[in-house]
Amino acid sequence: MRHYKNSLSGTVGFIPTMGALHEGHLSLIKTSLAQNTHTVVSIYVNPTQFLAGEDLDKYPRTLEQDLALCKKLGVSGVFVPNNLYAKDEVFVAAPKIKGYVLEGHFRPGHFDGVLTVVLKLLNLVRPTNAYFGQKDAQQLVLIKQLAQNLFLDTNIVGLPTLRDSDGLAKSSRNVYLSKDERQKALSIYRCLSHIKNNTERKSLSELKDEATQILKVDTLQYLAFTDYNLCMRQTFKKGDTLVLIAAYVGSTRLIDNVWL
Ligand code: PAF
Repeated sequence: MRHYKNSLSGTVGFIPTMGALHEGHLSLIKTSLAQNTHTVVSIYVNPTQFLAGEDLDKYPRTLEQDLALCKKLGVSGVFVPNNLYAKDEVFVAAPKIKGYVLEGHFRPGHFDGVLTVVLKLLNLVRPTNAYFGQKDAQQLVLIKQLAQNLFLDTNIVGLPTLRDSDGLAKSSRNVYLSKDERQKALSIYRCLSHIKNNTERKSLSELKDEATQILKVDTLQYLAFTDYNLCMRQTFKKGDTLVLIAAYVGSTRLIDNVWL
């Protein structure tokens, strides 16, 4: 990968993925294509970010289709490593607070795995710009912090969440949803939209109560208000409020958020 990267001249945009590419990834790739001389995509289902009992084995894998898509879009190179780990390695530790609230509370250690693999990938590809979706809001905030704290050379770019026409945020895990489950999942976006449309008129605690009524998910893990740096918020501030939801619909865990 390093050798290949060194053969490219001009700027390089990089989109790390776990494959099963959907329109959300495509929008990251298209932005990179527009902003850089070359675009490189990686496809690697990173085992260290899955906790025991999570969906590592059944995570959707559609490599042929993904490669064809990248080719069609005009991506310069796709990096598909088999394995990026040896035994007994140095491992990145997510920050003790920001890495262990919200997603980190329900998936302890998840962000250690994400940050470790992202650091490996950024060091291999050494891109000018790397693109991530705002849908994984906490991941994006922590990767920006990784780049800052470890003095990485890459500019980390976050791009807005893409949605289906019914509002469901694009995610590789949506393929797990049955028709009925999808209907339940749609209440997540309805809830976020309700909050978004009423922030000026109501307090966050009122909004949280109302939003909880709108949600039709099977288990709500969190509905939280934070600032853009993941510190909990009591009052709304335009341009610095993030509303985050994680919930189970059936056995599928979904996350979504809006940046207000
Ligand atoms: O967002 C993802 O798909 C993954 O967490 C990432 C950034 C590719 C690291 O494995």
